[in-house]
Amino acid sequence: MATVGKLLQARQEKVVDTGNKVTVVGVGQVGMATVFSLLTQGVTNNIVMVDTNEDKLKGEMMDLQHGSAFLFNANIKAGTDYSITADSQICVIAAGVRQLEGEDRRNLVQRNVEVLKGIVPKLLKYSPNAILLIASNPVDVLTYVTWKISGLPKHRVIGSGTNLDSARFRYLLSQKLNIAPTSCHAYIIGEHGDSSVPVWSSVNIAGVRLRDLNKNIGLDSDEENWKETHTQVVQSAYEVIKLKGYTSWAIGLSLTQLVKAILTNAASVHAVTTCVQGEHGITDNVFLSLPCVLGRNGVLDVIRQPLTDVEREQVFKSATLMAELQAKIKF
Ligand code: NAI
Ligand code: LAC
Repeated sequence: MATVGKLLQARQEKVVDTGNKVTVVGVGQVGMATVFSLLTQGVTNNIVMVDTNEDKLKGEMMDLQHGSAFLFNANIKAGTDYSITADSQICVIAAGVRQLEGEDRRNLVQRNVEVLKGIVPKLLKYSPNAILLIASNPVDVLTYVTWKISGLPKHRVIGSGTNLDSARFRYLLSQKLNIAPTSCHAYIIGEHGDSSVPVWSSVNIAGVRLRDLNKNIGLDSDEENWKETHTQVVQSAYEVIKLKGYTSWAIGLSLTQLVKAILTNAASVHAVTTCVQGEHGITDNVFLSLPCVLGRNGVLDVIRQPLTDVEREQVFKSATLMAELQAKIKF
């Protein structure tokens, strides 16, 4: 090893900043899209992957390690032993079963509750101060379940929620308006899925509310049928799953945006799943998406949007559906 000795004058331990350590549990389509996005965007240079499938884990780890020189020299590890996740700042949970073509996300609940019961305690054993970010479906109820299992304060258990639905909504609006998605300011709140709620009353471009240009926007009486745009959002996942079998890229990018907001203490606003009890007249202890301020400690605040009666009624319906689903869960 003489050559190396001459090359390395002062022997240094490779110091890895654990301040941005991210664990991703579940190296399937969603987990790997998230890992790849986190690494290529440089959101973290210290990532750990966990799964039950050892060969998949090792293959994904090696394949990514071979690309380290293109990935900001990131530290990439994987294994089935949760000790390697120690001192993670954020643990992303993308493990469990996904819906089949035409299947409702809600059908997955009990199977994925069992998966979470096996994962959450092990993560917190090694990273008691981590933020838990859930993607597994049905994500809203599973965020509630993760909170229950973890015993963490509510602000540290977050679901990816309608951050993805809102991105789809903004994309579809951008296509109709010929304006960049990032300039189409629009939120979908409530359930990630079939009962999601488009907040038409606040959709705006540079502060110009579409509702001021079309007072019936989003209503059945709207001659321009903007409501169809939300219908397309709800159908998005079913359509993509029918075509390619799963969704992955958009959710991976969505989770990456959320991880970045938390790691950088950005205080940026994202529609994510959080406890909504006491918001908009909701009395049940349910978790749904509302616009939340995200930072190093998780959900720093919830933005209380003024909703129309129609919008508030729709959010209430979403909350009732979640409460009913929660009531059936066997912990
Ligand atoms: P997948 O089947 O490709 O990957 C799931 C992975 O979880 C597999 O590698 C499997 O080995 C692993 N796994 C299963 N049980 C485990 C356990 N106990 N511990 C650790 N790993 C375990 O599924 P995909 O497509 O990645 O979806 C994962 C989840 O994400 C599903 O529940 C799906 O519905 C959900 N999803 C959520 C979205 C959202 O917007 N919230 C969007 C897309 C998918
Ligand atoms: C989605 C489903 C899979 O992509 O949750 O929205």
